[in-house]
Amino acid sequence: MNTVFSPLTLGPYTLANRLIMAPMTRSRADDSGVPSDLVTTYYAQRATAGLIISEGVFPDASGKGYVRTPGIETANQVAAWTSVTDAVHAKGGHIFMQLMHCGRVSHPSLLADGAQPLAPSAIKAAGQTWTNTGLQDFVTPHALSVTQIGEVIDSYRSAARRAIEAGFDGVELHAASGYLPEQFLSSGTNQRDDQYGGSVQNRSRFVVEVLAAMVDEVGGDRVGIKISPEMNFNDISDANPQETYTYLVKQLRGLKLTYLHVALFGASFDYHAALRPLFDGRYLVGSGITRDSADALIAEGKADAAVFGGAFLANPDLPARFRNGAALNTPDKDTFYTPGAEGYIDYPTL
Ligand SMILES: Cc1cc2nc3c(=O)[nH]c(=O)nc-3n(C[C@H](O)[C@H](O)[C@H](O)COP(=O)(O)O)c2cc1C
Repeated sequence: MNTVFSPLTLGPYTLANRLIMAPMTRSRADDSGVPSDLVTTYYAQRATAGLIISEGVFPDASGKGYVRTPGIETANQVAAWTSVTDAVHAKGGHIFMQLMHCGRVSHPSLLADGAQPLAPSAIKAAGQTWTNTGLQDFVTPHALSVTQIGEVIDSYRSAARRAIEAGFDGVELHAASGYLPEQFLSSGTNQRDDQYGGSVQNRSRFVVEVLAAMVDEVGGDRVGIKISPEMNFNDISDANPQETYTYLVKQLRGLKLTYLHVALFGASFDYHAALRPLFDGRYLVGSGITRDSADALIAEGKADAAVFGGAFLANPDLPARFRNGAALNTPDKDTFYTPGAEGYIDYPTL
């Protein structure tokens, strides 16, 4: 029977265990999207995870949505990420980069020349976002033309290539949490009347084409996807999420992706039971997972691996703590996104 400590093959890799570090934005890059040296230390400290999934990284500057978030577009960004992957690999770990394009929930103050954020449709999100000058209302985004959609897809393709050049073991498409891919998937944010909107087939097209480009560039065994059906974040809503995600996951089969990462936040339907049988790669379950629930999910074959966010953030040695039955440090929310070492690389190990 498998446990959280059983090795797991993932494409060409053998992960040392099934404890996966969730992608977590930590805002420790500079204003040009270059991760600081602290970032190398932070990920190296957590290299005993079976797999680290990096924080969301913008594929190009149009995808940036938060202050001090990193990119994978420029030579300086690639160089800084190379030091991260070298450090993780030197400790025997594995690391994927999460590609995150924020779409409409970005803000002109974060974009080149004060540009409008990009989206499938010109529908403003309700609410506010943190900018360099504090909380500001979301703005009405620019609806991408079909030509511009092609450019964004090319941008993901190039970003996937650069991530591999920077030494990442693979890339994860962030299609969760109300960012650009989910804005295309969801009927509340996608009201296009062309081939990228309307029917579930059309709303899924962007995600499928982005993944196809990434797979073409780096191979399906190095590409995963994260989804979060019914997550009520960034004002995202869909009229029929069960239909949307069932359809989407069926489309993933042909792409031969290495994993599907599903994080549920209070969903009204058992997506894990519905989606897992539709997918032929590894199935990663996240959100609210504990040592006990992870063991149960894996022992019962309901997941191949378990993804931990806050627990890995606050416990660099989480696998050792689980092995020893040790107590866990508590994440400090006040330092999630602040610059500097505090609350980032100073969580104690056992
Ligand atoms: C500080 C912080 C930053 C996060 N940033 C991201 C992100 O960049 N990309 C993403 O997909 N999820 C992000 N998440 C969500 C986590 O990946 C994960 O789904 C969530 O924390 C639930 O898992 P947990 O209950 O184990 O913490 C973030 C979570 C936290 C706590």
